[in-house]
Amino acid sequence: MSDGRLKRYMARYPTISDLRTKAKTRMPHVAWEYLDSATGDERAMAQNTARMSEVLLIPRFMKGAFHPDLSTTLFGRTYNAPFGIAPVGGGGLMWPGVEHILARSAARYGIPYCLSTVATQTPETVGPLVGDMGWFQLYCPRVGEITSDLLLRAKDQGFTTLVVTADVPVGSRRERATRAGFGIPPRVTPYMVFDAMRKPRWTARTLRRGLPKCLTLAKYAGVNDMTGLSNFVRTRLGGNLSWDYLKELRDEWDGPLTLKGVLHPDDAEQAISIGVDGIHVSNHGARQFDGVPAAIDALPVVARQVNGRARILFDSGVRSGLDVIRALSLGAEMVLLGRAFIFGVAALGKYGGDHAIEILLAEMKTDMSQLGCASLKDIPAPTDIGTGPRT
Ligand code: FNR
Repeated sequence: MSDGRLKRYMARYPTISDLRTKAKTRMPHVAWEYLDSATGDERAMAQNTARMSEVLLIPRFMKGAFHPDLSTTLFGRTYNAPFGIAPVGGGGLMWPGVEHILARSAARYGIPYCLSTVATQTPETVGPLVGDMGWFQLYCPRVGEITSDLLLRAKDQGFTTLVVTADVPVGSRRERATRAGFGIPPRVTPYMVFDAMRKPRWTARTLRRGLPKCLTLAKYAGVNDMTGLSNFVRTRLGGNLSWDYLKELRDEWDGPLTLKGVLHPDDAEQAISIGVDGIHVSNHGARQFDGVPAAIDALPVVARQVNGRARILFDSGVRSGLDVIRALSLGAEMVLLGRAFIFGVAALGKYGGDHAIEILLAEMKTDMSQLGCASLKDIPAPTDIGTGPRT
């Protein structure tokens, strides 16, 4: 992105929240609701951000001039910042080509990009764009040969890290998205067509690229249409993950492996005993279970249990560079964001991934300077002042 464009975007969209507002104006209603919603009364989604905002840190001054270093090492690889792009399925519904845009951004900025099993682009097209910044997220197929083949494809395309998602034992109800007409298999109603016509940029791109489909799975589904692929996802993917399955994955995948969606210390313990490299604290952006605690509240509890035996990753409710710092202060070592990056791309198209990253970098650098932190390891633990102790 040119300096001029970056300056213009920074003036108009200085925060992720500005990107969210813009994104909403450019997306069809059903796509927006799929992205922005959670499940149930969305109490847990509100808690994810509310509890995050209560993590307070005390600045230390008088440190002279310094430029905060945001780089970090994880699983033997250096990343330029301690944040990355979380796996998001169905990307093409929200913005056509979003996976390719974000993979390029991740490679450019040197941060991780995690491709979902149910993405609308394949490892074969994303891998060459993402370079060595690619991770692959697995929803476990019910047929072993399909799992093996998926792992092989990810490995062949240079994806370094396997992210196994634990927290989707069943599809969740997502009432708000359902009300907007979202379903599996998808239905296209006359209202959706009318609504899409009012979002000409999204529609023109969708017409050029075709309706979004879970393309990675076409090879196994034996069909290539949207309905057939959606049915394959519904009937043949997930619902079967167990500790034994995780053991098999551990034996099969010879690179770093993380378990995503851990909220209970005992689950972290079990995963460590199986030999996972990373424990990924997350409540799936509150999209699965509305009775769950805020992910940021689970983070220190799980981190304490793990106690350095695996690396700690975190997502759910992160909307700013300050939130990244907050999660690091409670024990995370890599922080992922889901919705924030999709807001960016839906708002600004091919520049959106870069601009979302620029916002997070700028916020982190400013806030680390305020805190007096020259590097990530200087980030202090949160203070109890004003909030009371966190468990
Ligand atoms: C997700 N998430 C997700 N996770 C996963 O493991 N596989 C997937 O395919 C998806 N798909 C998906 C779609 C959409 C639209 C969203 C918003 C999220 C969850 C995602 O990886 C991450 O856990 C949350 O997005 C984190 O919460 P925030 O950052 O969105 O608050």
